[in-house]
Amino acid sequence: MKNKYELIYEGKAKKVFSHEDLEKVIIEFKDDATAFNALKKAKFEGKGKLNCLISAKIFEFLKKNNIPTHFLELKNENTMIAKKIKVIPLEIVLRNIAYGSLCKQTTIKPGTKLTKPLIDIYLKNDELNDPLITKDRIKLMNILESKDLDIIIDLTLKINGILQSFFKNIQLQLVDFKLEFGYDLKNNILLGDEISPDNCRLWDLNQKNDIIVSLDKDRFRNDLGGLIEAYSEINRRINDFFKLTK
Ligand code: TMP
Repeated sequence: MKNKYELIYEGKAKKVFSHEDLEKVIIEFKDDATAFNALKKAKFEGKGKLNCLISAKIFEFLKKNNIPTHFLELKNENTMIAKKIKVIPLEIVLRNIAYGSLCKQTTIKPGTKLTKPLIDIYLKNDELNDPLITKDRIKLMNILESKDLDIIIDLTLKINGILQSFFKNIQLQLVDFKLEFGYDLKNNILLGDEISPDNCRLWDLNQKNDIIVSLDKDRFRNDLGGLIEAYSEINRRINDFFKLTK
């Protein structure tokens, strides 16, 4: 983007720019993909656009379901306008099915359906490699008040309920996802970041056998190939869903 707007922050997958309205920011989605705390890096042309469009649709859907989010509107295909938030440095992961790091760090077998959603909280700190963190350590670090942590956990569980049935409608299994939250200028807690195949595991339910077909960033993490095809398929199913329900 041209220099009319000041770059406030650059993350691994997004850039955040100032907006003439101080209560807003402009978020540009990049084509870069990283995994394992950026040990693995690549660029996928069109990923930024797909994640931006997918996130916008999902944020709108969540808003309709009374979830407060930072999303305001799309500016163009790979850029959105959002409310400015002070990001809480926690990554809230919710798991419905055991996969990924849960299976590397425990004896739970990949693909095990969890009897209730598991919430794992990580400290958002690249230097420390985003470690798994406990409620007591969060308290010790004064990251946020415990009532706010309860609000965030409650929101995450609600979002899971909404998204699980949303994705089921489009033949996708929501395996797990990562959320980030922040405070707006009035200190309200809002859902921030993005909701896309970069931070959700989505398995195709249109499979005859029990084989796992990942339509998410595991295509890159696990060298499966076809990342853009998978993200395009998710975008297509979401668009078809909203066309039908209009
Ligand atoms: P994990 O199994 O690697 O812990 O990932 C759980 C979920 O969180 C998965 O949907 C991918 C997402 N995630 C992120 O969005 N960012 C991250 O940095 C990590 C580690 C996971």
